[in-house]
Amino acid sequence: MYEYTFNRKNCWYKDVCDKYNSPICKDSCIRYMEMHFLMSTSGLPKNRQYKQLLIPPEQDYQAFVELQEIKKGIVGFVEDGHNLYICSKNFGNGKTSWAVKLLQQYFNEIWAGNGFRVRGIFVNVPTFLFKIRDGISNSDHEFETLRARIVGVDVVIWDDIAATKLSDYDHANLLTYIDQRIFAGKANIYTGNLVDNSIFTALGNRLASRVYNESRRIELVGIDKRGAR
Ligand SMILES: Nc1ncnc2c1ncn2[C@@H]1O[C@H](COP(=O)(O)OP(=O)(O)O)[C@@H](O)[C@H]1O
Ligand SMILES: [Mg+2]
Repeated sequence: MYEYTFNRKNCWYKDVCDKYNSPICKDSCIRYMEMHFLMSTSGLPKNRQYKQLLIPPEQDYQAFVELQEIKKGIVGFVEDGHNLYICSKNFGNGKTSWAVKLLQQYFNEIWAGNGFRVRGIFVNVPTFLFKIRDGISNSDHEFETLRARIVGVDVVIWDDIAATKLSDYDHANLLTYIDQRIFAGKANIYTGNLVDNSIFTALGNRLASRVYNESRRIELVGIDKRGAR
């Protein structure tokens, strides 16, 4: 169940809001309320909810420019049901961070007057599939709620979709969700480590075709930045 709590220290806008820490910085702030709802229902881990500075390495300069363009037009991107695959052979070079940046920007632009509509969801694919397998997971109410919303929300991040080879069961599960979303004209942002045809072996033809052929593909080649900050 969604529950509203106010904690100004966790405000997503504290660095930019001129009302921060003023007498009207309190639990009735509409912007905080709307953002709290969007973030809480997105499945984004807390440590991914805040702005993160990414420095473009030289080899990825062009990719960063393209991602920045998509970010600028994120509302249109989502409304038109576009699909994007951010991929790299390397780990820790900003794939997930960029996908999350796009979702954050979407929330930034649509929060006003949103009310209680769930608009975007972050799915870590390996965890998602594990929970379905394991779960048969009906006891995990929060997960079931999230899962039920996946088909209907404006945009879903499928994080780490092409990481390992999928079993037939996983493949069928994933394909159902993604196909339904694509037929409904909903936007998807995938991230993964497979940058060439090997994705067809890993994901199977139909799913790979969604992720690889029917999406705009942006490849990063920079090296692991984890801990470089
Ligand atoms: N270009 C970059 N500049 C600064 N930090 C970066 C950059 N790319 C990645 N990082 C940092 O490295 C860590 C891993 O990034 P992440 O986006 O999760 O990598 P992955 O490509 O494996 O999804 C994060 O803390 C992120 O902020
Ligand atoms: Mg990642």
